[in-house]
Amino acid sequence: MTNSNRLIIFDTTLRDGEQSPGASMTRDEKVRIARQLERLRVDVIEAGFAAASPGDFEAIRAIASVIKDSTVCSLSRANERDIARAAEALLPAPRKRIHTFIATSPLHMQMKLRMEPEQVYEQARAAIRYARQHTDDIEFSPEDGSRSEEDFLCRVLEGVIAEGATTINFPDTVGYAVPEVFGETIRRLRERIPNSDKAIWSVHCHNDLGLAVANSLAGVTIGGARQIECTINGLGERAGNTALEEVVMAVRTRSDFFKLELGIDTTQIVAASKMVSQITGFAVQPNKAVVGANAFAHASGIHQDGMLKARETYEIMRAEDVGWAATKIVLGKLSGRNAFKQRLQELGIDLASEDDVNAAFARFKELADRKSEIFDEDIMALVSDEEHSHENEHYRFVSLAQRSETGSTPSAKVVFTMGGKQYSCEGEGDGPVDAMVNAIEKKAASGAELVLFTINAISGGTQSQGEVTMRLSRSGRIVNGVGSDPDIVVASAKAYLSGLNKLYSKIEKVNPQL
Ligand code: KIV
Ligand code: ZN
Repeated sequence: MTNSNRLIIFDTTLRDGEQSPGASMTRDEKVRIARQLERLRVDVIEAGFAAASPGDFEAIRAIASVIKDSTVCSLSRANERDIARAAEALLPAPRKRIHTFIATSPLHMQMKLRMEPEQVYEQARAAIRYARQHTDDIEFSPEDGSRSEEDFLCRVLEGVIAEGATTINFPDTVGYAVPEVFGETIRRLRERIPNSDKAIWSVHCHNDLGLAVANSLAGVTIGGARQIECTINGLGERAGNTALEEVVMAVRTRSDFFKLELGIDTTQIVAASKMVSQITGFAVQPNKAVVGANAFAHASGIHQDGMLKARETYEIMRAEDVGWAATKIVLGKLSGRNAFKQRLQELGIDLASEDDVNAAFARFKELADRKSEIFDEDIMALVSDEEHSHENEHYRFVSLAQRSETGSTPSAKVVFTMGGKQYSCEGEGDGPVDAMVNAIEKKAASGAELVLFTINAISGGTQSQGEVTMRLSRSGRIVNGVGSDPDIVVASAKAYLSGLNKLYSKIEKVNPQL
């Protein structure tokens, strides 16, 4: 099976990506991203970890109900309860996969699982046997694979393949691997395991040493893996996972070297990147490969001159091939509801009901009154804001007035609702944002600590909306609040209240790797 030249792209933005502190998404946001992943034509969408929480279960089920072309997958620990939950969530999916895992490194087995290797071996085999009752498409991961003993790995992996695992995913869980060693290990495992050809081999790398993409590619070229697990923008725990856009564009741009086929529609990459960034509040650094704002910007005179004569002088990929089309002015103040609805459809935004379309259209009209040109990014932000406001309406922004003048103390008056009751609070601070937060906190008294604050211009020009992320922390929980508005203090207030709403919602998840 591994001789095939088809490289399977397995996206885990909605599972491993979501494990990034503060990146949790609502069910509707996950469905929106899943639809974009399908447009991108990823082969497998890991939609979540069904047993982690009722919210995860519902999101997987909703994704399984709408995704038709990509395989939908749920993670599960190697036990019957988790696997049954995954299978139940995946029921509506035309193509489904159960991905089950158990740690195999001495450190994880002793310290985390407190299990003997023999027990881990038996549990891994039993899990695959059980999963086979639900689907034929089963993936197995020996967690912390890159720090596991090779003889033990050979035994476990041979055992799970014999039970019917169809994909063997080799994880570098802690981002410890280096490319040559990682690739060679997979090559040797495939060589030593007698039934290794009965499964497709896969790689799953974390980016702690900045080597996730290099390790994944070495797993493919040296190791013979034919599936890469990755996330949009490299989102994921700690330093993140292998970035989808980077491996895909490496394989495509250097097809002379890799000689592999991909099913991906690369023109959907930038839209996916923007959507994930907007929904999670994780900004993309400007110099990020492929999807950073500067990835195709040529500033130096020599480069610009070269580009004008022949773009290949300094450009190895075409911006339009990854979806950097010129940003379109889509709509304006005179645009009607039908034009707005059609644009939503073109952007892959599927609002649940006509009431939701009406609410979004009302917000669009409000925005168009204040901003003459409305870009695609504005519409995506507007829908995101709308979804954030639905997720939990304990706090809701109503209005804001603020005053700042050189030489005087900035002040703000914020009107907002808390538990359905409206409050008007005033505060002062070192700047207008500080004053706004102090005003809200006079009533909210949340005890939250602001640990990160970013503002991004959504589109070009001074007319652009500001998109604000506020990362809040309280009692060990970290959440990202996001908000957008042409007035950046209003955007900040919306972001702050969206963060408080997330802290207010008590839904806790199990982290699969704990
Ligand atoms: O990093 C890891 O080991 C994982 C597994 C569950 C595949 O995410
Ligand atoms: Zn992982």
